[in-house]
Amino acid sequence: MSEIYNQCLASANYIKNIIDAEGAIGIVLGSGLGELANEIENPTIINYADIPNFPTTTVAGHDGKLIFGTINQTKVLCMKGRFHYYEGHTMNTVVLPVRVMKVLGIKALILTNAAGGVNRTFKPGTLMLIDDFINFMGDNPLVGQNIDEFGPRFPDMTYAINKDYSMVAKEVASDLGIDLRNGVYMGFKGPNYESPAEIHMAEVVGASAVGMSTVPEIIAARHCDLPVIGISCITNLAAGITGEALSHEEVQEAADMVKEDFKKLVKAIVNRIG
Ligand code: HPA
Repeated sequence: MSEIYNQCLASANYIKNIIDAEGAIGIVLGSGLGELANEIENPTIINYADIPNFPTTTVAGHDGKLIFGTINQTKVLCMKGRFHYYEGHTMNTVVLPVRVMKVLGIKALILTNAAGGVNRTFKPGTLMLIDDFINFMGDNPLVGQNIDEFGPRFPDMTYAINKDYSMVAKEVASDLGIDLRNGVYMGFKGPNYESPAEIHMAEVVGASAVGMSTVPEIIAARHCDLPVIGISCITNLAAGITGEALSHEEVQEAADMVKEDFKKLVKAIVNRIG
């Protein structure tokens, strides 16, 4: 058995002794979007620091907790705080929680993030459903010996993003009167925000938004056949588009602005797919 698979089992076994997440909807909360965790009913909180093989997070605005509970009777397992490649974690660590959720038996995974808008019709506060992705991170969580327990050596990415659940997300958004846009998310390594020339390149190659997370998690989820969808909260127009300098504070303020719609949307998606 591969060492990485063993690590996932050890993390999952620890969690299984506390909660039963079988059939739950997994949610990864992005930068500044952590408030959704406060709406989980009957929460059981597990600190990452207590889970074997989980590192602790280092980014301001990112907690390090798993929160298990329900949203209108639907079981959810929510990650408040994720592991980023730019923190110096290996790709295997970045995707460890996704794989652990798979072992725990979750039904589907909703990945969320804060992202810079490349599509010029986006504004701070736009919500974007991730239709597809570009891995520009210079690494990949599937590099190395394949973990056969999770999936094949050469997994398909045509259907990396689950089409049925994406359709549900669009329907739910429309019911709520939320303008959920569609687009391609391009993952950069970070931690600096991109240069204007890099954003120009992103635009030319077909990206709608850029960010520093989510791509490895989508790839790992597809590899282990875990249905996944992604929602980006556009917190700013990407570098060079408006000419303004970017700051982490601005990103957090914009996430704050859209959080009510974001929470409504994710809760409604959970209730439909749960
Ligand atoms: N670039 C990369 N990541 C981001 C951005 C951005 O402009 N905004 C929020 N996360």
